[in-house]
Amino acid sequence: MLLTPLHVQGGRPLSGEITVQHSKNAALPIIVATLLSREKITLHGVPRLSDVDTILDLMHHLGTSHAWVGENTLELHTPEILNTDAPYALVSKMRASFIVLGAILARAGQATVSMPGGCAWGPRPVDQHVKALRALGAEVVEDGGNFDARRTGSLNGTFVFELLTVGGTHNAILAAVLGDGVVTLENASIDTDVVDLIEFLNSVGADIQGAGTNTIVIRGVPELRGGAYTVIPDRIEAGTFMMLAAATRSRITLNNVRPDHLRAVTAKLQEMGVDILESGSTILVDATRGELKPVNVTTQSYPGFPTDVQPQMSALLATVPGTSVVQDPVYPDRLTHVAELHRMGANITVSGYTQVIQGGRLHAAPVKAADLRAGAALFIAGLTCEGETVIDGVQYLNRGYEKLTERLRGLGADARQTELAMAMDD
Ligand code: EPU
Repeated sequence: MLLTPLHVQGGRPLSGEITVQHSKNAALPIIVATLLSREKITLHGVPRLSDVDTILDLMHHLGTSHAWVGENTLELHTPEILNTDAPYALVSKMRASFIVLGAILARAGQATVSMPGGCAWGPRPVDQHVKALRALGAEVVEDGGNFDARRTGSLNGTFVFELLTVGGTHNAILAAVLGDGVVTLENASIDTDVVDLIEFLNSVGADIQGAGTNTIVIRGVPELRGGAYTVIPDRIEAGTFMMLAAATRSRITLNNVRPDHLRAVTAKLQEMGVDILESGSTILVDATRGELKPVNVTTQSYPGFPTDVQPQMSALLATVPGTSVVQDPVYPDRLTHVAELHRMGANITVSGYTQVIQGGRLHAAPVKAADLRAGAALFIAGLTCEGETVIDGVQYLNRGYEKLTERLRGLGADARQTELAMAMDD
């Protein structure tokens, strides 16, 4: 399938309700975690995304069969691990797939996983993943672009992460679930996606304590059961829609949200003068009352302001008169949106990981997304200005947002993305 560019006609407020998908970044590790059980597992709330298809391709190679039994319900079954390698062709499509290392190692005793390499905005190291596995007793060697991991017995001991890493914490947990060892992870991530992975694993028989704290204790169990689990709502998609509502000076209700997962985003928008009303699993974002104020934002690990909403926040602040400062020390090079926003008239000066934004009016232009969240930022920017913004690189949006164009049309957005069947030679 070839994707044509996205055509966006903006410049008017949106309104209505939108239902937030379930979390991409929680679903991916939970799908991988099903490798630890021989039994069938049903996952509800799995978004239909190209990143999910990518992990399913890799799981198929490892021996998992899957079936979509509902629009967002996925059945997975791995009676045996058929291959213990994750080749470059599959891992390089999505670096998050590196967490299969811990899962294959746990289930099969050895794993060979390609080094994931960087991504569009720079290096994405995995040193903490490897150090954790080594400290807990696995042998991990680098060989020809691969990590080759082996264990002779159960993982055991304590590892102190040198920094907070979501993926590193996922990998170490997955490696330690099966067996008879006791593993303690200190300075572990308290991210919502780590908590969701632990809650899923415990629901099928794992023994993991400390979810949501910096100390996680995993007591090995002989095996996991089958079961069913529902993935949490996607706080990054919710954050994206909150930025969209503010940037287009709209009043929008978000359904299927966990307001407690969005505190840092909510606080920043309130500081800007956006009204936010939380009620159960909905958030009303109202940016229709008066001028918005510029703010300073610095990304941090959860529960701080998420790096995954930084480009969208930058797009919003590019429309707010005055000077804002956005800093992303989590991913210092996550700046591919800046040059494209310049094409739309944004005044953003970059120094290191700091963007100084002089807000004003944006204008329509042809632009290109180089990664997922940059794509979201450009979509938001396009919806703020009159005229037609044409966004290339739409495949990145499909990695993280399910049927985004269609859902935003439900809010009154004028956006079209057509799919063209790829021409066949014969
Ligand atoms: N880091 C290291 N060494 C490591 C691992 C991480 O130095 O071994 C550093 C990273 O360079 C970064 C920081 O630690 O500065 C945090 O990285 P983390 O490991 O937490 O990120 P990740 O697990 O690779 C996930 C999300 C990203 C999101 C980050 C940060 C998934 C699939 N990916 O990545 O999501 O940006 O956490 O919150 O869960 C996205 O959805 O657009 C996306 C990129």
